[in-house]
Amino acid sequence: MVAATIPDYKNERPDQNQLWDKKYLLFLSEITAVFDGFKALDLEHIGVMHNELRVVIGPNGAGKSTMCDVITGKTRPTTGSVWFGGEEITKKSEDEIVRIGIGRKFQTPTVYDSLTVYENMELSLPGSKGIFAMLTARRNKTERDRVMHLLERVRLADDVDTEARYLSHGQRQWLAISSLILSQPRLLLVDEPAAGLTDSETELTGELLLELKKEHTLIVIEHDMDFVRQLNSRVTVLCEGRSMAEGSLEEVKTNPEVIEAYLGR
Ligand SMILES: Nc1ncnc2c1ncn2[C@@H]1O[C@H](COP(=O)(O)OP(=O)(O)OP(=O)(O)O)[C@@H](O)[C@H]1O
Ligand SMILES: [Mg+2]
Repeated sequence: MVAATIPDYKNERPDQNQLWDKKYLLFLSEITAVFDGFKALDLEHIGVMHNELRVVIGPNGAGKSTMCDVITGKTRPTTGSVWFGGEEITKKSEDEIVRIGIGRKFQTPTVYDSLTVYENMELSLPGSKGIFAMLTARRNKTERDRVMHLLERVRLADDVDTEARYLSHGQRQWLAISSLILSQPRLLLVDEPAAGLTDSETELTGELLLELKKEHTLIVIEHDMDFVRQLNSRVTVLCEGRSMAEGSLEEVKTNPEVIEAYLGR
């Protein structure tokens, strides 16, 4: 069998290669982010394929969250370009980027404590513009079914009427992820989903993310190596703003530079 040849995009900007978006949903090209003379990011090329789950690891301050800020339009890169689904999105606003299909779960999940699980989900349904609209809107059965289907998957279906304040940390994470999915983002950025979770919650989170890969592309930022192992996906190691290594967990773990800078500490 002849191995499929994968074109090499590394020396071309995505707009110079008509094929790149067939392979990559997201492509970061020569991104730098400089704050007061400090280079928080200095990336060459990072491409994330359609329906890939990419794990990003690296020590504190490596630039992981800043990379998400750049993708989501929260931070403008100083130089370089971000490409998504065949178009350059570097100069788009945060709102526009959400609309074209990039969703993000922050390190601290955005959940409204005084609303029930169901109401939290309703707020994220497309067309819901704030609490008043949500409370007065009549949701059709399809929408309710979708909400319930997602809540079942994260084992929150029995808690639909529970106020979010009573949820465990893990349940809050799943609620935040599930409400993001309601807007059907093509790319999901998930910042430290396993931080502070129990072992069984961590495992369920891993299963959920792997299941989401069927319909979405994911970038998962994580510190917990057992969890990264469970995800069994391609890993990018960031260190001092640079992409130091990329490959399977086993490959990056045996990379001397990575051991020296991160894992060996
Ligand atoms: N808006 C900003 N202004 C100034 N410095 C910033 C800004 N955003 C990030 N930085 C700096 O960039 C570096 C990278 O930070 P970032 O939060 O991206 O790291 P991280 O890899 O997410 O770390 P952690 O694992 O602790 O979450 C840090 O030194 C941080 O202080
Ligand atoms: Mg961070």
